[in-house]
Amino acid sequence: MHGKVIVITGATSGIGQVAAEQLAAMGARIVLVARDRARGEAALARLREGGPGIAHSVHYADLSRLAEMKRVAGQVAATESRIDVLINNAGAVFSSRRVTEDGLELTFATNHVAYFVLTHGLRERLIAAAPARVVNTSSDAHRGARLDFEDLGAARGYRGLKVYGRSKLCNVLYTRELARRLEGTGITANSLHPGFVATRFGDQSGGPLSYVIRIAKTFAISPEKGSETLVHLASSPEVASTTGKYFYKCRAVPPSLEAQDDAAAARLWSETAKLARIES
Ligand SMILES: NC(=O)c1ccc[n+]([C@@H]2O[C@H](COP(=O)([O-])OP(=O)(O)OC[C@H]3O[C@@H](n4cnc5c(N)ncnc54)[C@H](OP(=O)(O)O)[C@@H]3O)[C@@H](O)[C@H]2O)c1
Repeated sequence: MHGKVIVITGATSGIGQVAAEQLAAMGARIVLVARDRARGEAALARLREGGPGIAHSVHYADLSRLAEMKRVAGQVAATESRIDVLINNAGAVFSSRRVTEDGLELTFATNHVAYFVLTHGLRERLIAAAPARVVNTSSDAHRGARLDFEDLGAARGYRGLKVYGRSKLCNVLYTRELARRLEGTGITANSLHPGFVATRFGDQSGGPLSYVIRIAKTFAISPEKGSETLVHLASSPEVASTTGKYFYKCRAVPPSLEAQDDAAAARLWSETAKLARIES
């Protein structure tokens, strides 16, 4: 990975943090996108300790807000002339429904729209580095989820895990459509399930959901184990030309039938572009 530039979100904690550190140890230069300054600086310091001599950097943005997603994409694009790997990984679950200043449901905005907007904003930088890769952290929580295009904001019957599962279905469908649209550019796009991992995930969700997730996490795998598929997709020559697939335990596996629906993937793309006010 020497000489490669990797942009990663959600690397101040959990799976993303371990993946960033491992990729940095392989020689990659890491560009973090973080929301919290103290956590961002701590993550940057850890990267610098692990690989002195490489100019890792950090940009700040709350990836639930459209203006911030677009601003940070612009800032990263202005400072990086080429990007070899973009890892969209920041994500969260919320026990009660919240709506952002853009009128988007918070889970949908953070877990899906941010992947779309950041990738859109960095597309030309990825093309400049081709062969390049986009890696999107999804989840097996997508299984059993269905999209309701009449209610992408989950105004009806909000339940935290259900809405989280839908956002992760969006990740798989979005990756599928992205891979199709990137054909011929030399950029691959794949999504993954990291496993059930003991991270900070769910701690901030509030209500009984935090408690349930905390108990369940006693059976979860370590962040080191959970980051393996992410690192594999970002770095392994084995998957250099694999695109549009869903991975678990470093292998391509079929996602749910709903996640293989090309018409839904295309519709999700156009609905998201409209909501994000992006021409695509
Ligand atoms: N843990 C699991 O069992 C599991 C299973 C399947 C999939 N996943 C997925 O794995 C990914 C990483 O989760 P994790 O388990 O490593 O959880 P985590 O430890 O909670 O890490 C989440 C990361 O996302 C960042 N983030 C959250 N909301 C953000 C926002 N609005 N703007 C910018 N950054 C934001 C967090 O930043 P802060 O440090 O500032 O909080 C943190 O760096 C997520 O996409 C999650 O859905 C997790």
